[in-house]
Amino acid sequence: MKLFARNLASAAAFAAALGILAGAQSAQAQQEIKLGYALAPNSHYGVAADKWQEEVEAKTDGRYSFRHFPSSGLGGEREVIEGLQIGTIEATIVSSGTLSNFVPETGVFDIPFLFRDLNHARDVLDGEIGQNILAKFDDVGLVALAWGEQGFRHITNNRNTIGKPEDVAGLKLRTMENPIHITAFETLGAAPTPMAWPEVISSLQQGTIDGQENPLSVITSTNLSEVQKYLTLSGHVYSPAMLLVSKQLWEGMSDEDKQAFQTGATEAAKAMRAFVDNVETSGVAQLKEEGMDVGELTAEQKAAFQQAVQPAYEQYYEQYDKALIDQIIATK
Ligand code: PAF
Repeated sequence: MKLFARNLASAAAFAAALGILAGAQSAQAQQEIKLGYALAPNSHYGVAADKWQEEVEAKTDGRYSFRHFPSSGLGGEREVIEGLQIGTIEATIVSSGTLSNFVPETGVFDIPFLFRDLNHARDVLDGEIGQNILAKFDDVGLVALAWGEQGFRHITNNRNTIGKPEDVAGLKLRTMENPIHITAFETLGAAPTPMAWPEVISSLQQGTIDGQENPLSVITSTNLSEVQKYLTLSGHVYSPAMLLVSKQLWEGMSDEDKQAFQTGATEAAKAMRAFVDNVETSGVAQLKEEGMDVGELTAEQKAAFQQAVQPAYEQYYEQYDKALIDQIIATK
């Protein structure tokens, strides 16, 4: 009887040890992907993040488990990109806000009034020019997999309606930490205030800034109508986004898994663009319903803004090859 009990106890211990071992092996086999992004799960970023996860999971037999950190849960976009560089964060979806601080060439897409429409921008980003810029991220310890999208940026503020460049004079306008955008608004006579996104809503509430500028995808998904009165559909600059992973993650993956992350990112970018297409048609009605005073620049008014920002182009031509800018403009 005693012998039976002892055998039973050692069998149980053996089974428990096996269980622990199996648990440890499966924990080892499944890598966690911390995916950080600035906006809520119901935004274009959230939609892209879900799609990316779905595609990777479907193609990698559960070897990766995604953990989402929406709404700047891992910090501002600059901090998250730095996290990727040092390998503490595996993946992100970000705007072009701070990207030119890492790869200066990216800033060419931030030049105001460069793209005619979404299709023009998409053609350039998916073509040779855009793909060459993605490849440059390799030099700064990052792997850029696809261009996503936010849409064209518009101005919101609490001070006045905007119909001509003089209307933005002295306007305390939050911009991204993006030198190209800052130069543009300085040239227009506004008072650009670069700021990381997590501080923006409270700064608008406290009145330390009058306004900000972002695409409809952001204005709707962050409920900016609660803290901003005027929306001017200025479409002054296209706002790309990017899907990146850390080099540490990339270099540790098989070719098959790299392919899964790559195609997943491409599909995620498509989902993001579909979201933008949708919000471009439905967003204005929603914001009006929420009480915003919405105005759209006419073609002549837009031309006046283009004219007023022209001196900034001298600076842009010094930073970026004029031939490249012309090539982008000429892309059909
Ligand atoms: O304005 C910004 O900083 C960006 O557009 C945002 C809202 C963080 C989305 O990437």
